[in-house]
Amino acid sequence: MSGVNKNIVILISGSGSNMAAIVSAARQRRWADRLGARVAAVISNKASAQGLVWAREQGIEVVALDHSRFGSREAFDGALMVDIDRFEPALVVLAGFMRILTPGFVQHYEGRLVNIHPSLLPAFTGLKTHQRAIEMGCRFAGATVHRVTAELDHGEILDQAVVPVLPGDTAEVLAARVLTQEHLMYPRAVEKLLART
Ligand code: GAR
Repeated sequence: MSGVNKNIVILISGSGSNMAAIVSAARQRRWADRLGARVAAVISNKASAQGLVWAREQGIEVVALDHSRFGSREAFDGALMVDIDRFEPALVVLAGFMRILTPGFVQHYEGRLVNIHPSLLPAFTGLKTHQRAIEMGCRFAGATVHRVTAELDHGEILDQAVVPVLPGDTAEVLAARVLTQEHLMYPRAVEKLLART
């Protein structure tokens, strides 16, 4: 497999279902053969992240780097960069990675760093997006894949998925509806980027 030279590194903090969707798409859509790409590593800032267990079972290299061991954001991001750069990634994919990134980190991966956010950006940056969409009376909600810039949840929009907000929705019900669409959209968006790199 010497033609596989585009490494993807995925960063997670929790269940990692978007990461799993990307790993599955890579396999099913033969990214190695078609695009010369593979998911080289999954890295989490929490050793307890469920997604790490699944990724390891798939034979993917996993790294846990506990952010609480570091005295500052800069120190953590610096160590994270060292771990990521071992894989010389063509793409760094944030998939439920619940950390605010330092400008130095963002700059280091400029053009190679993407995120998925559970709202129709530029609406509802930050946390509790589904609850806030319901409280505002939104008729539609969704998720956005975007390039990462130093400003939180900003950056060029690469794709969006839209779902209806239905009467009686709780944040949990709406989140599940959105997540189903995230799993379809994110692998597609990553594949498009790989085809361009
Ligand atoms: C996803 O809904 C993702 O959009 C969101 O966290 C969830 C992670 O789920 N990301 C953010 O809120 C980033 N600010 P997953 O771990 O099952 O992929």
